Amino acid sequence: MEEYLFVLGRDKELSLLELLCYFSKKNIKYEMKGKWINLVIFSTDKNNFDIDELGGTIKIAKIIFKKGNEENLMKFLREFEIPNKNKIYYSVNDDLIKETLSKRFKEEEIKAYYKRNVQDPSDALKLDLELIFFKNYLAKVIQVSNPKIYKKRDEVRPRFDEKKVISIRLAKILINLSQAKKEILDPFCGAGTMLQEALLMNLDAYGLDVNIKEARDNLLWLSKNFKVKNKIKLIQGDSRNLSRYIKNIEAVVTEPYLGPYLKTYPNEEEARNIISRLNLLYLRVFQELSKITNKIVIILPVILTRNRRRLNIDIKNLLRNTNFKIANSQLPIIYKHKGSILEREIWIFNKQKL
Ligand SMILES: C[S@@+](CC[C@H](N)C(=O)[O-])C[C@H]1O[C@@H](n2cnc3c(N)ncnc32)[C@H](O)[C@@H]1O
Repeated sequence: MEEYLFVLGRDKELSLLELLCYFSKKNIKYEMKGKWINLVIFSTDKNNFDIDELGGTIKIAKIIFKKGNEENLMKFLREFEIPNKNKIYYSVNDDLIKETLSKRFKEEEIKAYYKRNVQDPSDALKLDLELIFFKNYLAKVIQVSNPKIYKKRDEVRPRFDEKKVISIRLAKILINLSQAKKEILDPFCGAGTMLQEALLMNLDAYGLDVNIKEARDNLLWLSKNFKVKNKIKLIQGDSRNLSRYIKNIEAVVTEPYLGPYLKTYPNEEEARNIISRLNLLYLRVFQELSKITNKIVIILPVILTRNRRRLNIDIKNLLRNTNFKIANSQLPIIYKHKGSILEREIWIFNKQKL
């Protein structure tokens, strides 16, 4: 078993749940060795991670030294393999380690430039050596996720409206939470972000929307610009009649219609009206979903009112009228969008075995 440290992104709890679902989908054996704010150490039987398969992890580091005394650590630092270059950009979050390395670089006549506290992944990508010291574990960063690639994929496609589409990272996280191995359906596919990411994760992608044009344009662009081997099926229709179009699907992953776009906080009456219309829509859709799938990963809205009340969707009613149950006790996980009047709750539901 090898040990790895994962640096989790902004939504730590969500990113950790994504990792656990990812391990489980891939049948990776793991044991959690330690966790601290956004850092988590696992020993696993897998040794070739691809950070692009994860939406919530920003760095993966390999444990290269653990639990020795200071003397052992210093000895290790004087001997471990460093990049074979005469100019090195490096970073480490511990002063003693920094000093020891700096001495070694001088002795070996390597021009070394220290960068303190590298937060931005774009900067981390430029480093030749990045070490993370955490609870007597020393880890060497081996992969950093590249936000520029995501940004490019996001904004270059023909249909992109920042206000409407979900982020690529979040789409990836949700797909991993579903643990789907073959296919997903997004019954409110909009511009097709979820479908796009599913295809890039080698899953068949089924999408339905009352207006399928944006998804069609974007997925056509995707097929021209990326290697897409999997099946794409787009259906124009109303998800309240979903089972007319789709009979069986491994998992449903969606950010559904979340109500009208709100520019200001609504008063309580307005918010209640929105929630009650959404309750009706979701109930109809969940009843359809219970005919065709065993797994739902879904974002549900919480509306914040002018007098700071939070109004939620009636989950109990959705479950009472279908045979889904909440997948685990940590749910829902709250996902906040900068400047949004809506809060998003992330839910996973499994079909109850009768
Ligand atoms: C929040 S957007 C989905 C955004 C999408 N996740 C993305 O990133 O592109 C909601 C979508 O639901 C669609 N919609 C609303 N009511 C619907 C219904 N009853 N059946 C199917 N689609 C519906 C809208 O046309 C819109 O495209």
